[in-house]
Amino acid sequence: MPTTHAQDCDVLIQHGLDLDEGTPETWTALAADVLRGLTATHKHLPPKWFYDAYGSDLFDQICEQPEYYPTRAEAALLADQGAAIAAAFPAREFVELGSGSSTKTPLLLAPLLATGQLERYVPVDVSASAIAIAERSLGAAFPQLEIERRILDFTTQLPLLGRADEGGRLVALLGSTIGNLEPVEVQAFLTALRGQVGPGDAILLGTDLVKGEADLVAAYNDAAGITAEFNKNVLRVINRELDADFVVDAFEHESIWNADLERIETRLRAKGAQQARINALSLDVSFTDGEPIFTEISRKFRRETVAELYASAGFELTDWFEGDGVYGLGLARPV
Ligand code: SAH
Ligand code: TRP
Repeated sequence: MPTTHAQDCDVLIQHGLDLDEGTPETWTALAADVLRGLTATHKHLPPKWFYDAYGSDLFDQICEQPEYYPTRAEAALLADQGAAIAAAFPAREFVELGSGSSTKTPLLLAPLLATGQLERYVPVDVSASAIAIAERSLGAAFPQLEIERRILDFTTQLPLLGRADEGGRLVALLGSTIGNLEPVEVQAFLTALRGQVGPGDAILLGTDLVKGEADLVAAYNDAAGITAEFNKNVLRVINRELDADFVVDAFEHESIWNADLERIETRLRAKGAQQARINALSLDVSFTDGEPIFTEISRKFRRETVAELYASAGFELTDWFEGDGVYGLGLARPV
């Protein structure tokens, strides 16, 4: 039965779905993604559904695992080059897509504020709980800064941001989150982003770089099992929101390096043949022993691939900051 937006909102409030605030389409989008993904020949689920309150907290824990080097590498680069980035583009407004709990953001906010130009920080995320944490800590650290949170999906709802006509807008996507999008999604995302910025604006992408397989694989298979727990969380979200009965621990976490496509591929593998019922969709899904659900890709980059990505969507990579060949930050302008 189709539901109205009002009914969707009731469902959201009833279940406390923190993936949403002000976008009643969220529950419908989850239902549609799960229906499409789990009835496909190669089962797949989009990664944005990992991030309810528990998933966002797990992600923050991943960032602290000794094997997960990207967060520390990006933080070190921001600490080192933040002033250079601010000098290259002294933003008036800083929009951060997929900001999560904004843990590394102060490393950029401080040098941007020091230029005397920055007026506003706009964290954009599907996770309302993560943004709430960010607002508390940033509000205390930077009381003079205006913070305007936006709970939206940057792959489908970018136009809701509205265009910045005066220029001086810096839009960042850190954490190598761009690598979690499929190539067609990246293209669509950057093209949509190009529509939201004018000649006086700039884009900053954080990108993890191609490196030795051992370090890459370890980063997505931490010994403490936090990444495994995070990966399985998508099944918990489906159980709760769509009234399903996945046995979460009957699936196994797997992250492997695909050298041809230069990306980490993360899956859940069924341990033994099994079935799950998704009541909200009146759907039964069966799994053969070892059958995968593709949950995430983490593409790894090179300076040239970042420049190509930008160029394909009407941007030019103007400044590249790199730390020890581990991680890169690419600043670009619309052409
Ligand atoms: N920028 C932070 C968090 C990265 S985790 C860091 O570098 O550590 C990715 C974040 O992006 C999560 O908070 C998740 O909720 C958010 N996210 C993922 N897909 C999204 C989408 N399509 N729209 C908006 N936010 C998204
Ligand atoms: N953007 C992060 C990355 O690609 C997200 C992430 C970290 C992730 N660890 C993960 C996604 C494990 C899925 C599974 O590194």
